[in-house]
Amino acid sequence: MAKKIAVLVSGGGTNLQALIDAQGSVLNSGKITLVVANNANAYALERAKKAGIDTAVVLKKECGSQEAFETKLMEILDGNGIDIIILAGFMTILTERFTSHYPKRILNVHPSLIPAFCGAGYYGLRVHEEALKYGVKVTGATVHFVNEIPDGGEIIAQKAVYIEDGDTPEILQRRVMEQAEWILLPQAAEKVCADLGHL
Ligand code: GAR
Repeated sequence: MAKKIAVLVSGGGTNLQALIDAQGSVLNSGKITLVVANNANAYALERAKKAGIDTAVVLKKECGSQEAFETKLMEILDGNGIDIIILAGFMTILTERFTSHYPKRILNVHPSLIPAFCGAGYYGLRVHEEALKYGVKVTGATVHFVNEIPDGGEIIAQKAVYIEDGDTPEILQRRVMEQAEWILLPQAAEKVCADLGHL
C-alpha cells in the first residue's frame, strides 16, 4: 500500500507542486495526504487545495514555544497516520525532540551541494547569494534525511547545476529548481517510500 506522505511548507511551494505532479508517474509508492504550513499565507496551501489534498496551518506564534509548536505538528502528523514527512521549503529548524520521533522518515530538499552553503542561516535565496559571492562554478541541490543537525543528515541524492555568467541569485535559484530540485525530490521520495515498503 502507498505510504502516506505529509509535505511541510512555508512559501511558494514549487517543490510541493513537483511532488504533486509526479504522483502517478515518478511517485507511486507514496501518496501526499496532507500539507502542513507554518505560514497561513503560503501559496503552497492553494496548490494543495487545488490538488484536493488536506491542509493544516500551525503557527509557532500561536503555540507559544518551539516545544508546543513541535508537539502540535507531531499530533497532526501522527493523528493522520503519516509515514514520511517531506520538508519542501519549510523555513524553520526542528529540534531533536521532533526529528528523533521520525528516524529516517523526514526528508529535506536543500538548494546547494551539501556540505557547501548549508546549516543554520542558509535557506532560500540566501544560499544562492552565498554561492555567487564565493565564486563557485558548480552548485546544485541535495535531498537528505533530517536529523538534529541542520542539513546534517544522511544524503539521499544530489544533482549538480552549473553557474553561468550573469547569474543573479534569482536566476540561479530558478535554474537549481528546474534542473535539480524538482527532479530530485520526487525521485528521492519514491525511493524512500519504496524502501520502506520492503521493510
Ligand atoms: C527551495 O529552493 C528549497 O530548496 C529551499 O527553499 C526553496 C523553497 O521553494 N529550502 C531551503 O533553503 C531549506 N534550507 P518552494 O517553496 O517553491 O518549494
